[in-house]
Amino acid sequence: MIGVGTFTVNDKMREYVNQVLDSGRISYGPLSRELEQRFAAIHECKYGVLSNSGTSSLQVAIQAMKELYGWRDGDEIITQSVTFVATVNTILHNRLKPVLVDVDDYYGLDPEKLEAAITPRTRCVVPVHLFGQPCNMTDIQDIAHYHHLKVLEDSCETMFVSHNDRMAGSWGDVACFSLYVAHLLTAGVGGVGTTNDPDLAVKMRSLVNHGRDGIYLSIDDDNDLSAKRMKEVIRRRFNFESVGHSYRITELEAALALGQLDDWSGMIRQRQENADYLTDKLWDLEMDDWISLPRPRPHTERAWMMYPIVADGDKWALCDHLEKRGVETREMLRLTDQPVYKGLWEPENYPMADWINKHGIYVPSHQELTPEDLNQIVDAFYDYEWSA
Ligand SMILES: Cc1ncc(COP(=O)(O)O)c(C=O)c1O
Repeated sequence: MIGVGTFTVNDKMREYVNQVLDSGRISYGPLSRELEQRFAAIHECKYGVLSNSGTSSLQVAIQAMKELYGWRDGDEIITQSVTFVATVNTILHNRLKPVLVDVDDYYGLDPEKLEAAITPRTRCVVPVHLFGQPCNMTDIQDIAHYHHLKVLEDSCETMFVSHNDRMAGSWGDVACFSLYVAHLLTAGVGGVGTTNDPDLAVKMRSLVNHGRDGIYLSIDDDNDLSAKRMKEVIRRRFNFESVGHSYRITELEAALALGQLDDWSGMIRQRQENADYLTDKLWDLEMDDWISLPRPRPHTERAWMMYPIVADGDKWALCDHLEKRGVETREMLRLTDQPVYKGLWEPENYPMADWINKHGIYVPSHQELTPEDLNQIVDAFYDYEWSA
């Protein structure tokens, strides 16, 4: 079976993991700190905050903004009609109201439909860079600024790529990335929040650590202090300022992610080559109107976390066929008609989402695919009885 994700252990990963095991230091430490700093810098941000998942990073990013900017329960957060449930769940967990905007032809939040969704209670826009491709951040950011709205980029499916020469993750007030299995950097579990705002960074780090006072968030925070400062730390290190969470990660996940960080450009290049190959070979099926291939957004790089295809006809018949031919598939992130959200919105108000819900799947494009794997995927598409 050709899987949608891959996890390959390189020498660097082994080296860092052994470093952790030999050091006896398992809680947030030097490797976590290095990962945060390097990951944030690559994404043109000053601060990175690790957590145990992309979902946890979204949860604390929203909560941090809610607390810092005084949002009220029931205030509205706009996000898009196609995304993973975690985007909407973290809005709901923060007692805010998710408002959906349909996606554009590139499967990102459609800026042309954004303004109509803004009300006096809107506080934030959450564009989601799905399937490795950044949203049209230029237009989204302009509209958000004009209406004094905050922007949170859900970049859990996208890393290391730019839109209009600016990195995904550096456009908004804050961005969240995932280190989960089958993503781009895969540590098993993990999330990173990035921001240029020191107050947001401190608040997010505190919320990951039970809402603890920012003076003491790691066991290193009482190293090399003056006697006066040490006294203050001792008095405040069991202070809690917010209703926080236990979303910490260990040095082992940081070691795995750091071990992959040196070669992120090689990984992205290989994924791009694989996607180009699939596009080239599947083009005839697009020309015959059997499938819609992913469109490249202008002036935008793409990380190809996976390869999304919207097919004519019954997607389940196609999935069954592909799986029988050894190609793993997933649905293209059906959201609007999920049973859990019944009554929150009307699915028929989102025609693009409706089309994707009915016909959208994705197949692998990761860096470990061999030429034989790619041909197996292509052949499986051509073997399908399209007219059936
Ligand atoms: C768009 C999006 N947001 C959020 C998440 C949540 O990330 P995690 O699984 O690390 O919690 C995912 C995970 O797949 C995702 O695809």
